[in-house]
Amino acid sequence: MKKKAIIITLDGYSSCGKSTLARQLANKLNYVFIDSGAMYRAITLYFLRNHINWEDLDAVKNALTEISLSFQYNEHTGISDMYLNDENVEALIRDMLVSEHVSAVSALKDVREFAVAQQQEMGRKKGIVMDGRDIGTAVFPRAELKIFVTADPAVRVERRFKELYAKNPNITIEEVRNNLEMRDYIDSNREFSPLRKADDAIILDNSNLTREEQLRIALDWAHEKINA
Ligand code: DC
Repeated sequence: MKKKAIIITLDGYSSCGKSTLARQLANKLNYVFIDSGAMYRAITLYFLRNHINWEDLDAVKNALTEISLSFQYNEHTGISDMYLNDENVEALIRDMLVSEHVSAVSALKDVREFAVAQQQEMGRKKGIVMDGRDIGTAVFPRAELKIFVTADPAVRVERRFKELYAKNPNITIEEVRNNLEMRDYIDSNREFSPLRKADDAIILDNSNLTREEQLRIALDWAHEKINA
């Protein structure tokens, strides 16, 4: 019997390990993994590079017509990289400068509509795991499995610091903490599609869980839905 394809959403605060878990889950299930945050980061990179004033709504609308986003599989790393107008921007979008502005850019209505329409199209055939902030609430409100990932803020700062320090030893823990607190605040308090747990989402607090333990829990939930 052919297995049922479902939509799995993972939402939560910054640096909860959502993307890693979503990617591993997709791998195990042979599903497509989409990091929706990468799309907002690529749009932010475009705005920064082209000096788009995002308080000017006409400038934003115009700029969006010049942006094409896609994910392309990277054979060396085994993951899909984010492409902005045919340029691989996977590394550039993780820069601190992009992180500082991405919450402001992703709070814009036009930016959200632009990204959400593409995300919904990617999930049309199901068999997808998508992580972000509003995936279970706004992008796929009828998804079969919704996971809300949380972790203690101190644990999140520590994890993010380790990740960024490996690339830039000049970074300080205060910078990382400030950036996470700012993004959590803007993401949760914005007018359009703020970060919140969908009523039917299951909470996964991974503060004290290894990657393997989280994956096992999420896989059990996924199999339950797929076999239902
Ligand atoms: O998951 P991330 O940290 O790479 O996401 C970067 C930013 O993009 C995050 O601060 C908020 C925004 N975002 C969003 O508004 N909606 C999503 N579905 C995903 C990310």
